[in-house]
Order: sequence, then C-alpha cells, then structure tokens
Amino acid sequence: MVKQSPHHHIAVDALSQAQAQQELAYLADVLAQANADYHTKDAPDLSDADYDTLKRRNADIEAAFPNLMRADSPTHQVGAPVADGFGKVRHEVRMLSLSNAFEDRDVEDFVKGIRKYLGLGDDAPLALTAEPKIDGLSLSLRYENGVLVQAATRGDGETGENVTVNARTISDIPATIEGAPDILEVRGEVYMSHADFEALNQRQTAAGGKTFANPRNAAAGSLRQLDAEITRARPLRFFAYAWGAISAPLSDTQSGAIDRLAQLGFQTNPLTLRFETAQEMIAHYHSIETQRADLGYDIDGVVYKVDNLDYQRRLGFRSTTPRWAIAHKFPAELAWTHLEAIDIQVGRTGALSPVARLTPVTVGGVVVSNATLHNEDYIAGRDSKGAPIREGRDIRVGDFVQVYRAGDVIPKIKDVDLSKRPKDSETFRFPTTCPECASSAVREEGDAVRRCTGGMICPAQAVEKLKHLVSRAAFDIDGLGAKQVEQFYQDGWIKEPADIYQLQDRYGRGLQQLKNREGWGEKSASALFQAIEDKREMALRRLIFGLGIRHVGEAAAGLLAQTYGSWAQFEAAATAAQDETSDAYTDLLNIDGIGAVMASSLIAAFANPQERASIDRLVAQLTVLDAEKRATDSPVAGKTVVFTGTLEKLTRAEAKAQAETLGAKVSGSVSAKTDLLVAGPGAGSKAKKAADLGIETIDEDGWLSLIGQG
Ligand code: IVH
Repeated sequence: MVKQSPHHHIAVDALSQAQAQQELAYLADVLAQANADYHTKDAPDLSDADYDTLKRRNADIEAAFPNLMRADSPTHQVGAPVADGFGKVRHEVRMLSLSNAFEDRDVEDFVKGIRKYLGLGDDAPLALTAEPKIDGLSLSLRYENGVLVQAATRGDGETGENVTVNARTISDIPATIEGAPDILEVRGEVYMSHADFEALNQRQTAAGGKTFANPRNAAAGSLRQLDAEITRARPLRFFAYAWGAISAPLSDTQSGAIDRLAQLGFQTNPLTLRFETAQEMIAHYHSIETQRADLGYDIDGVVYKVDNLDYQRRLGFRSTTPRWAIAHKFPAELAWTHLEAIDIQVGRTGALSPVARLTPVTVGGVVVSNATLHNEDYIAGRDSKGAPIREGRDIRVGDFVQVYRAGDVIPKIKDVDLSKRPKDSETFRFPTTCPECASSAVREEGDAVRRCTGGMICPAQAVEKLKHLVSRAAFDIDGLGAKQVEQFYQDGWIKEPADIYQLQDRYGRGLQQLKNREGWGEKSASALFQAIEDKREMALRRLIFGLGIRHVGEAAAGLLAQTYGSWAQFEAAATAAQDETSDAYTDLLNIDGIGAVMASSLIAAFANPQERASIDRLVAQLTVLDAEKRATDSPVAGKTVVFTGTLEKLTRAEAKAQAETLGAKVSGSVSAKTDLLVAGPGAGSKAKKAADLGIETIDEDGWLSLIGQG
C-alpha cells in the first residue's frame, strides 16, 4: 500500500526541518510496515521498486538532515527473519545488503563520496570493480582446513538457516578446496539458469506439482528443501563474489581476491571488470544491460565495489550496507493489459486497499494478474495533496493499463491508455463503507487512506490483527501461521488473541477436538498446543509489536520496551498519557524515535474500551518478560563527541562513522552536553570552550587508542 508521503513532491534540499521530520516519521512507518509484510504476507503490498524509491528518499533526507535521524530509522533494518525447519546459524561476519543507485548520477556521486571520505584528491587513483548483480539468493560457505563444514543462507543478516546438506548437492560448490586459508567463508549467489528453470517448471506441471514464478523463487524453493534429495534433483548454480570470516587475507584487492576464489575452484562471473572512473563503470553497466537477455540467467543490476581492500576497511559499513559498494539497478519492466475489476482489501489497521484484477500478462518473465492501485487518490489521478499524477488521468474498470514490476512482489499500475477506454466506462467510486463489515469507512485529514471504523467488530481487521500477532517478528508460534489463524477464525475457535491460549482448554478434548479436524492429527494437535504453551512467556517488545497498533512497528516496540522495562510500567504510561498535560505524555514524546503520530495511536488503542479489554485478556494469559537493558560495552556508547581541528589519520566522515558505529552521538558544536572533544591541530574556539566547560579533550591518537585502533 503506497501512500504518498506528505512532502514527497518537495525536493530534499528544499524541505524545512519540520517537513523533513514529518516525512522521516512517515517513511519509518511505511517502510517498517513493508518489512513486516514482506515476511508475513505472501504478496506484499509494496513493490520492490516502490520500496526502493521510498528507502532512497529516506536515505536522502537523512543525509541532508543527519540531526533528524530516527532511532527506528529504516536504514537500520534489513531482510526477513529465519524460516522454521532449518537449524540457525549465527554469521561470524554479518551478511549485508547493498544500497542502490538508479541513475548514472547516483554512480558518479557514489565515487565522489568515496574520494571525499578517504580524503583522495581528484587525481589520486581509485579503482572499482563492476560485475552483474545476480538475482538469486545469497549463501555463505564455511571452509575449515579446506573442507566445507557449513552453508548458511543470509536470513536477517545476523542469523541464517543451516542448509549445509543441501549446499553439498550443488556441483558449483566444491566439497574441499586446496591452498585456502584455514578458515574461509566464501559468499555468493545461488541461482538457476533460464533453461533449467523452464525445464523444472515443465517437469513440475507434468507431475502436477506447483510451478515457480521466476528463477529466483525456484532457486530459493529448491535450496530450502528439508529433503536434500529434492535439492539434488534441482539444477542450482553458484557464483562466488565475496567472503565473510577469514583467517588470512586472500589478496589486497577485491579483484585479486575474486581471482583467488576462481583458482580455488569457484565459479566467478566472467563479466567482472576493474575500472578507474565512473564513466567507464557506467559504460560497462550499459554493456551488461545489452547482454542481459542472452546471459541465460537473471540479473537485476550491476554491483560496483572499491578494489583496494584497505580502502574497503576504512570505508566500513553503515548499519546494513557497506560504504564501499553499491548496486546500480536496471529499470523496472513494463507491460500493457486490461483492468478487469477493482477489489478492496481490508488490512489490520482498517486500511481499504484497492487491488487491480488484470487479464494475465507477462511482465519481465512473470505472469501478473493482480496489481496494487495504492489508494483512492491514485485511482482518481491525483496525489494526496490533490496535485495531478498521470497528468490527471483516472483509472477505470475496463481500461487498458500499464503494469510495472520490479522484483517478484505485487506489481503496480503505472499508466492508462485513454484512447482504448470503453465508451460506457464509469469513474471508479471508492467505497465509503467497509466491504467486510459495512461499517463506515472514513478518511482522516492527512491520511491518504480510507479506513474502516469497525475496529474489533470488523472480521477482516480482526483476522489481520491475529495474523500479525502470530507472525515471526511478533509471537512466532510454530505451526500457527496465517492460514491456520484464518481457519480458526472462520470456525469461531479463535476470535481474539487471548483465545489462542485457551485453544487447548476448549478444543483439546471432548466433542470438538482439534485432532479430529481435517488437516490435524493427534501429533500435530499436541505439537501446536505445546508451541502455544512455549509462547506463554513473551518478551515485552514482541508483545508490544504483536498488539498491531498502527504506527507501532518493530523498532518502536523495541524502544518502548527499552524505555519502560516492564509491561506494568508500559501499560500505566500508555494509560496515563491520555492526559496530554501529564508527565507520562511528555515522557512518551521525549523518547527519541517516538513521534506525536505514533504516540496518539498508542494512546488511542489503550483508551478504546474494547481494544483495551482485549489486550488485558491477552496479557492475563501471558508471563511478560521484562526488557533487558542494552549492553553498553563500547567506551563511547551513549556519549556525545565533537571532532574539531585537523585530523591526520582519518577524514572527518570516517571519524564520525566510527564514533556512531560505537554508539556515540556526534555533534558539531561544544555545549554542556558534550562528553568528549577530539581536537586535532588548529583546534580553535571549540577547544577553548571545552576547556572552559571542563570537558575532557583528547587528540586523534588518543581517540584511536580509546576505540582500540591505536
Ligand atoms: S556483494 C557486503 N555482489 O545482492 C556486500 N552481492 O542487495 C555483499 N548479490 O545480499 C554483497 N549479486 O545476495 C554482491 N555480484 C554481487 C551480487 C550480490 C547479487 C546480492 C546478494 C546481496 C544482495 C544485496
């Protein structure tokens, strides 16, 4: 569901502080929702392309207003959580994602930014590699003394799934290697070729099995088979392009390291080349783009990486992406088809989302029959401010529409061909009542979305709330997924969260037994009851997130749990904060990362008698664990640091990034709040002010030794 952000039409450098702050709050909310949807829904509402656009806008605003960076910034979150069934593997070195470039300009800026960060002049040599971005799934292969001992998927970047047995069936992955460092984690992409994908789908059709939407899904589905013999029968391939933990360096350059991996017996991509300028890199991008259709496997862009590994080390990482690499994405794919109907879906927070039902059409190799239409304004041809989009063309049932897709998530409608509009077509009338419960559906000021006011009485909202509660990031109850919840809801066995914990008492024995129902047996029923019992003890942050309160995403739930520590404190605060003159209200708003919109949504949930009663009934079933206080083991965590004067070993950007990685806040000016001043030669008034205020002052070497790099 793409709402238009409040100020999206304003260029980033023209935003006021207040506008930037509002928009960051909005983006944090929408992106957190998209992240949650990504792993709780089969078909996320936000397409990859929209997600990328919003994430990029967020990053741009954060770059322009670093002081407004939110604690729950979407920049700090990646990926989807681990699926059940495989053992978990904690990656010794995190598996990261890449930030994106879409325009040639972005690539030039990327190279300029690196030069600046490293303090390299325009003439100093700087080489980068460029290689295809393979559209598969990443895998980390751990070799100890030359033997493959573990293969793990990325998972959420910190913890992945142990797929060692499956990886051993892939012929591109050597079981043993010679002449490698004692410990070597090789990272790369598992993928399926177009030819193998077609053949697999044909075999699946012949056998009456399910077919895959695209080679990436086929590769992921094939690797993540609990029966490795199924994986063996699927023709998976592997390109190596990076490494994780390593006991000795492979080389001092990226290109040298990739050559070493090739010598060790890994497949490396033949289109990997090394360049000295952004222009050459971009030319290679366009050359790869023209070869794309003939490669025989899917790629979705080109990845550029700084070649010098010492530079890579200095550049380091933002929270989830390296500073030394970027993915230059190919533009999304388009196709034209007929819009047969517009259906309205009702979400967890009551949002009415229009979905386009399309005459099936192939877009970039995938058959598409549904697309999101975002909201009523989008259909009407205007943005949330009333400004025209598509030059004001509205979208009607019967229209010939252009579908846009990037990645394999729900596509969107980009445009409409008015010359093909049927004569008798009518303007689409967006419903003003909920199609699920007939309550009135209203649109509040500033909200792009019309929402059902039925609350708990709306079956669609109730069931979506339950699905959210059992999702992985929330209660994560094994064996109780979206499908089961829907079934139990329809049967009236689970109407609200607390009912989950009474399932066994009510339906564990007697006439209406779970084990007698279709799809359930003695074993699966008792496993479910056990899984539910296992989740009677619940972490505070999961509970707060699981309540599914609008705007309160995973990150915000974490902040609230950290701040209040216990359910009793949290609940008391959320209740007392109804009074906007109370200390509780001020304290809530003072939490870094909690804004007025989120606060009022939280307060409203606790003030609504039905909702509150339902929450209380749930909590009565649980033992809520207090939040653990965050470990603060870095010497500068939580401190405010100011850098001044000339730094000789680090650039300013590098020093700032180091400090922030270690949990410090970096400020530009000295005040009573400053904890530490790092002053290089030529430090002037700031050093004097710090001395006057009695603030600890150290030099660059002192800083490096303080953070353990001296
Ligand atoms: S480098 C620290 N190189 O893209 C950076 N990634 O969006 C490690 N990918 O998770 C990644 N082709 O699954 C790199 N040539 C390539 C790639 C590539 C595909 C994937 C990888 C990663 C994702 C990031």
